[in-house]
Amino acid sequence: MFITFEGPDGSGKSTQVAMLVDDLRARGYAVYQTREPGGTPIGDQIRAVVHDLGNEGMHPHTEILLYAASRAQLVAQEIRPRLAAGQIVVCDRYADSTLAYQGYGRGLDLPTLRIILAFATGGLQPDLTIYLDITAEEGLRRRQQAAQDGAEWNRLDAESLAFHQRVREGYLALVAEAPDRWVALSGAGDRESIQGQIRDAVYTRLPAPDTA
Ligand code: ADP
Ligand code: TYD
Repeated sequence: MFITFEGPDGSGKSTQVAMLVDDLRARGYAVYQTREPGGTPIGDQIRAVVHDLGNEGMHPHTEILLYAASRAQLVAQEIRPRLAAGQIVVCDRYADSTLAYQGYGRGLDLPTLRIILAFATGGLQPDLTIYLDITAEEGLRRRQQAAQDGAEWNRLDAESLAFHQRVREGYLALVAEAPDRWVALSGAGDRESIQGQIRDAVYTRLPAPDTA
């Protein structure tokens, strides 16, 4: 099973991914946890370029191809082999981030992005995508707080509030387009209750570990 997490910056994805992976492992599932951009040595080098605050002159087409390049490497090197070996793969962001950020956020042509995504991933789609919803204002507030405590503050975080509002609207449109694949939850509650809803969504779809 291939599970992805999506949502605006600061919606709590990284927090919830870590909690879910711990629980899956405690129940005996073999789990591979990864994230985008990055997740491979080549992808981590691409991540550094795409997030560098100094790269403010980056053309939107360059940006989308860098994210796609990181994803192509991750899918080929890690995700496909793990799925083939029967592991559960949990990924913090995947192709939907490109549609939300580069498509809705930057206004790039969605049909063109979908062609690039299909090329990068070989058409690999998640079985389940958890969407954590948060307002752009609350997401940025959390990220700013986290950055003060030492977390990364990157080129995308530094985009305008209007950009982050378009990203959120984009996610809501993507969820509405494919409601079978997405489970949309509010990211505004407390960590434990959000995690409980995520586990409900995952365990109703997963066979027990000994039969998986
Ligand atoms: P994301 O990966 O979506 O950017 P994180 O999990 O890194 O989000 O969370 C962003 C910040 O918000 C972190 O400082 C984290 O501790 C905090 N946070 C996460 N979940 C919650 C929550 N449910 N309520 C309040 N703060 C949260
Ligand atoms: P990251 O620090 O991983 O943020 P988060 O904790 O919110 O996931 O940074 C990833 C940033 O890159 C985030 O702002 C979203 C953006 N992004 C895109 O714009 N397009 C993409 O295809 C991906 C994967 C991420």
